[in-house]
Amino acid sequence: MQKKWIVANWKMNGNLKLVQDYLETFKDTQLPHQLIVCPPSPYLCSFKNQNDFLLGGQDCHEYNSGAFTGNVSAPMLKELHCTYVLLGHSERRMYEKESSELVYQKAQAAQSAGLTPIICMGENEHDYAHGKTEEILAKFLETLQSLDRSNLMIAYEPLWAVGSGRIPDLEVINAVHQYIHTILPGIDVLYGGSVNKDNIQSILNLPYVQGVLVGGACLDAISFHNMCSL
Ligand code: PGA
Repeated sequence: MQKKWIVANWKMNGNLKLVQDYLETFKDTQLPHQLIVCPPSPYLCSFKNQNDFLLGGQDCHEYNSGAFTGNVSAPMLKELHCTYVLLGHSERRMYEKESSELVYQKAQAAQSAGLTPIICMGENEHDYAHGKTEEILAKFLETLQSLDRSNLMIAYEPLWAVGSGRIPDLEVINAVHQYIHTILPGIDVLYGGSVNKDNIQSILNLPYVQGVLVGGACLDAISFHNMCSL
């Protein structure tokens, strides 16, 4: 199989023990795919001396510095050896009320700092059931047209699939990815939402899917390593 991306999104999970488990478990292993690990920001420093996987942030602010208590900027992530940053995750759009305009500004800040934004988007269950997935995605994608496409990834994450144990049919996943490619050609598009050891291989085998974004299933280093090695 062609080498694809596996992105581990810890969300607000994990601790120093999980950091240690990752460092030990993924040391000197030759994975068939390229792994990007996105731990919570406080743990990024602990990863600085390793080269077995790439690092990403889970969010960045749209400004490089300033009086924005609690936030993290793109240059800070870059300084801590990140090369990627997740942006516009559905949990941030929902709980932090992030708009697509804000996600665009964050993506610009990330690209200016030399990071590759991985911009998440997806439809809710109602829109999925009513066949509106492409219409919803078209609106998200339109807001990204002027970003530098040589330095950008998209993660298609149906909201109803995140953390639910359910995924769309494989043909649907492939077709949605194909659609995204027609709107933003030449960009790697990942699938996210309930990816696990039982479905990862069939999802990665889909021709229009360049990788996966994994949440819950990445929180145990050994089983996640097994999953990445399939
Ligand atoms: P999940 O999360 O794998 O737990 O569904 C994926 C994500 O939200 O990125």
